[in-house]
Amino acid sequence: MSNNRDLKKEILNKISKINNNTDLQQLKISELGKKGRISLLMKSLSEMSIEEKKKLGKEYNILRQNILDEFEKRFDEISLLEIDKQISSESSDITLPVRNGTFSEEGKIHPITGTIDQIISLFSDFGFSVETGPDIENDFNNFTALNIPEEHPARQDHDTFYLKNKNEEDRKLLRTHTSPVQIRTMIDTSPPIRIIAPGRTFRCDDDATHSPMFHQVEGLVLDKNINMGHLKGLIKTFCERFFGVDNLPVRFRPSYFPFTEPSAEVDIGYSSEGDNIVIGSGSKWLEVMGCGMVHPKVLINCNLDPDEWQGFAFGLGVERFAMLKYGIADLRNFYEGDIRWLDHYGFSIDDLYSSVLTKYRDK
Ligand code: PHE
Repeated sequence: MSNNRDLKKEILNKISKINNNTDLQQLKISELGKKGRISLLMKSLSEMSIEEKKKLGKEYNILRQNILDEFEKRFDEISLLEIDKQISSESSDITLPVRNGTFSEEGKIHPITGTIDQIISLFSDFGFSVETGPDIENDFNNFTALNIPEEHPARQDHDTFYLKNKNEEDRKLLRTHTSPVQIRTMIDTSPPIRIIAPGRTFRCDDDATHSPMFHQVEGLVLDKNINMGHLKGLIKTFCERFFGVDNLPVRFRPSYFPFTEPSAEVDIGYSSEGDNIVIGSGSKWLEVMGCGMVHPKVLINCNLDPDEWQGFAFGLGVERFAMLKYGIADLRNFYEGDIRWLDHYGFSIDDLYSSVLTKYRDK
């Protein structure tokens, strides 16, 4: 018994001093392998009486198991130590090296992002805050609540991308406009409301003037005694500030949207000089956005009382605003990621904020 205890102590001591798994494995073979001391002990049982076999057999088994457990434990400890050692000795720089020559040193803000920032900045001066909604919408928010029921022809006009869904009723889609953010806001918050909602929109269309993904900014104002005059004043001032033209000719042409009544399309005046267009002079008109007074049915769909609350909404295309302001001819340029194009049309931080701030602040 005391021999066994000494043997155990000796082996455990050896185990604790080993610091790598190869040596540990060697030790395990020499102690527990066929010719190892533990195996020899086990073998010696065959020469013993039944009584002794019973007693010592149990003892030897426990001894063997204890030693095995100790090997396992040390094996795990060493493995962890080895991983730690490896982590601290290996470090990789996963950042990309600087690209020389092809891009101006400071990097640029994409013209879409820059244009959205300018629009947000202009509307924030009128007391608007920014709301957002998800790209993936449901039928109710994108259509039904906006007074576009299932059989309405406007649903076809929108060339909607539908997501596959087992359950027809719960069918999801990529929002075809930012107007569902109107619905979300009216349902989630109580009026007065004064928000703009910039974001991506999707329609199944692709050519020089249409992209399957494009950007809109939605606007919604809801309060007591709001009328079309407020809408006209706001939009005219916004367009003048955005294009940097005082007394910009702006006209409101009667139109139709299921979610506004009356509805209008906004045109701004321009003239052509060769291939260029000059905004603000001449006698030609360019359509820039849709707008109107929020339809009473839309208010009711959002649990609001149309006798108490009125408002207006508008929706503009960001790409169109950017193309007109910066003379960009082809919509597809925005998404091609051509470094030279981005370097030319992108904004530097200074450009962006000085153009946003100086145009009108000191008036
Ligand atoms: N959602 C309309 C569109 O995408 C634009 C719009 C918004 C019109 C709000 C009126 C009011 O064409």
